[in-house]
Amino acid sequence: MAYLQPDKPEKVYVPALRAAKEKGEKLVCLTAYDYPSARIVDEAGVEIILVGDSMGNVIHGYGNTIPVTLEEILSALKAVKRGANRALLVADMPYGSYHTGANTAVRNALVLMKDGGAEAVKLEGGRNRVELVKRLVDEEIPVMAHIGLTPQSVHKLGGYSVQGKTSDTAQRLIEDAKMLEEAGAFAIVLELIPRQIAEIITKELKISTVGIGAGTNCDIQVVVLHDLIGLSFGRLPRFVRQYANIREVMTEAIINWMQDAKSGDYPSEKESYGLPKGIDAKSLKTKAS
Ligand code: KIV
Repeated sequence: MAYLQPDKPEKVYVPALRAAKEKGEKLVCLTAYDYPSARIVDEAGVEIILVGDSMGNVIHGYGNTIPVTLEEILSALKAVKRGANRALLVADMPYGSYHTGANTAVRNALVLMKDGGAEAVKLEGGRNRVELVKRLVDEEIPVMAHIGLTPQSVHKLGGYSVQGKTSDTAQRLIEDAKMLEEAGAFAIVLELIPRQIAEIITKELKISTVGIGAGTNCDIQVVVLHDLIGLSFGRLPRFVRQYANIREVMTEAIINWMQDAKSGDYPSEKESYGLPKGIDAKSLKTKAS
């Protein structure tokens, strides 16, 4: 039997993360929810694209991630898949899609992989997800875990605050990370935790840590693309460094176009179409005449 080799040798697969960690090479991950941003992120060389449930805040305006549905993730994932050639494609499992039993969780993860083209799924939680992570991994579904601030627990946590600030909760985070590694997760997102705890976890684990608001010592850094490029609303968390102001660029372009359209300057002759030679507009009669 002949095994097909991947036709894109530069494509990032799950094992590349462990290899990078062993070499001490840092990787990066960005969110994308549509085809153009997936293409831009992928072509820029970002190694991992996450179709995150942050889409609830960022593109749907829900205010949190709770209402995001599997169908919304799936629709975004299909568009992102068409735009992403090289990056490892990870799909978030939205709230409710893995909370009512392992079989439903497996079925939903399989939808993301088979219909959406995800190459891994991400889910939130620590020791309470260990059995589920084992089950998903048993079914050949690579899992990225997510601990620290888990936005799907916003109502239980009462907001979005830094986690692991006492020695008990910090200890618990370290234990959770180890348990998730043992369960078979290939990476763990560490969100909004003190950098010292992220450093301990990163050193103790063989799998990669993916930090967001967790300091510089994580193996991989992740941020929400819209925060990075200035296309989001509201106060930005302190860990976001904004590299562009696309909102300003868009507003300026819209105002300029609006002024040109209203003054008659747009569209010009070059930006419109004329009759072919030989047809005189004046010779055309309207129905009424
Ligand atoms: O949904 C998301 O975008 C995330 C990242 C912030 C890690 O979970």
